[in-house]
Amino acid sequence: MDKFNIAIDGPGAAGKSTVARIVAKLLGFVYVDTGAMYRAVTWKALQAGISPAEKQRLTEMASALRIELHPGEQAQQVLLDGEDVTDYIRSIAVTQNVSAIAAIPEIRRLLVDKQQDMARSKGVVMDGRDIGTHVLPDAELKIFMTASVRERAERRYLEMKAKHEDVTLEQVEQEIAERDRKDEQREASPLVQAPDAVLLDTSGLTVTQVAERILELAQAAAGKGIR
Ligand code: CDP
Ligand code: CDP
Repeated sequence: MDKFNIAIDGPGAAGKSTVARIVAKLLGFVYVDTGAMYRAVTWKALQAGISPAEKQRLTEMASALRIELHPGEQAQQVLLDGEDVTDYIRSIAVTQNVSAIAAIPEIRRLLVDKQQDMARSKGVVMDGRDIGTHVLPDAELKIFMTASVRERAERRYLEMKAKHEDVTLEQVEQEIAERDRKDEQREASPLVQAPDAVLLDTSGLTVTQVAERILELAQAAAGKGIR
């Protein structure tokens, strides 16, 4: 199959990264988790004691950062100025602050430039919130992946429990709903389905079923002739 780009957007815990990684592996494409980039900047800001309100300082800090993404076996590895921060960027503190930082247009511009560079030679499966609408508007296949808030909360809760984190299902559901609201209502590249994206509601579906559906859509996109 010739190389082309696949954009996967949707709210948290819809299954984007799990499925995107499988699909990329099967197609021999590169998986790019853009959420990890916003999380990495947020982690650095917390470390440096910079609040989301200090936009100028944040932008200066982010523009001086060297962010590297390396495809790993389990998760994509994230390096910040050479330091492996993969395990730190999923912390509750980062999760609670990331949407505020991701709403800053200057920060988005910096990261979107990097994301577009990574996709230039095609063969990328990229997931996030604005990939089909802003980062890769010409992606050959666009998916908008969703699931009910309750089911997404249950999925994330199971992951957190497996890591022995001290949370309740209600807290996780509240956090996810709050982040959905912030991501959907911000002015800069809000979370919204691109008009030409295929809507995929994964409620009640297994990871394998969702991956198979995307592979079918990828075959169809490839069959149509890749630009
Ligand atoms: O953990 P989860 O999958 O829910 O989120 P993520 O993909 O790691 O993204 C974390 C946050 O980064 C999102 O809630 C958005 O605020 C922001 N984000 C964004 O604004 N644009 C993207 N392309 C990716 C993530
Ligand atoms: O990237 P995103 O935040 O959209 O979601 P994820 O981190 O890929 O998926 C969240 C969790 O839901 C993972 O533990 C997946 O294994 C699980 N999942 C699921 O149970 N059923 C699906 N159809 C998709 C994901």
